[in-house]
Amino acid sequence: MSTKEETPADGDKPQTSSWKDSIYNPRTGEFIGRTAKSWALILLFYLVFYGFLAGMFTLTMWVMLQTLDDNIPTYRDRVASPGLVIRPRSLDIVFNRTDTKQYGQYVQHLENFLQQYNDTVQEKNELCMVGEYYEQDDQEEKKVCQFKRSLLRQCSGLSDTTFGYTEGKPCVLVKMNRIIGLKPRGDPYINCTAKRESPLQMQYFPSEGRFDKMYFPYYGKNVHSTYVQPLVAVKLLLTKEDYNNELTVECKIEGSDLRNSDDRDKFLGRVTFRVKVVE
Ligand SMILES: *[C@@H]1O[C@H](CO)[C@@H](O)[C@H](O)[C@H]1NC(C)=O
Ligand SMILES: *[C@@H]1O[C@H](CO)[C@@H](O)[C@H](O)[C@H]1NC(C)=O
Ligand SMILES: *[C@@H]1O[C@H](CO)[C@@H](O)[C@H](O)[C@H]1NC(C)=O
Repeated sequence: MSTKEETPADGDKPQTSSWKDSIYNPRTGEFIGRTAKSWALILLFYLVFYGFLAGMFTLTMWVMLQTLDDNIPTYRDRVASPGLVIRPRSLDIVFNRTDTKQYGQYVQHLENFLQQYNDTVQEKNELCMVGEYYEQDDQEEKKVCQFKRSLLRQCSGLSDTTFGYTEGKPCVLVKMNRIIGLKPRGDPYINCTAKRESPLQMQYFPSEGRFDKMYFPYYGKNVHSTYVQPLVAVKLLLTKEDYNNELTVECKIEGSDLRNSDDRDKFLGRVTFRVKVVE
């Protein structure tokens, strides 16, 4: 912004402009180098310009939000595959089987976790068709298929209230993380193997460690609020020879298209934990 600019009218006079003229020049009516009209135009220009930007932003945001569904994430992996987790929530299950205090935390944890699977609670849910996906595209509020804890038999905490921990044959519950819309192909089941020379005997509940198709798909917590994941209980039939040795057990989901051998994610379709029972 030049302040020494001369107009032809005062071109013949000696230049008298001072620094004050740079703020307000009485000869030309300029304020910081611009006339009032010029300033008004500039203000108007920026007003319109930023107004336009704000409008563009709001419009794009609005269009974007129209395409989002509250219940389904828009961007997902090509083939979403769930991770496996176990209960009790510990990857190091170590206890002295004659000391109630030591395994008490695991038993308590399993008991708390299974509250939502109480038979009395689950009786309010639907009896679904075995081996069929339970698709509910029409309803607003989705129904839930029953999963009663009594299905877990010796690992239900009902007949044996310590889940096998007292007898040194502990139960571990395996569940898949929820993935909205997941419909596993095939017949997914849990297969656990212990890393030792001779195979470790295990019992699975429900039989063969299967996850029934009726528990899929899951529709998200907004519309499927009382949904419970199916569970597989694994009872590790440890013997006296196993006591005092740390045993590594790996459980994998097999028999389906769910991934279970990703190099980068060791919880994708599998879970590894350690068990050590002392006496
Ligand atoms: C296990 O607990 C019992 C009873 O509290 C105790 O006598 C025994 O020494 C404990 N065993 C080990 C290996 O700590
Ligand atoms: C689940 O059942 C147990 C015993 O059967 C009972 O003590 C507990 O209160 C029940 N919990 C719920 C949430 O119904
Ligand atoms: C479980 O996995 C082990 C080891 O990978 C395998 O030998 C066994 O056949 C599997 N069992 C079933 C029922 O798939």
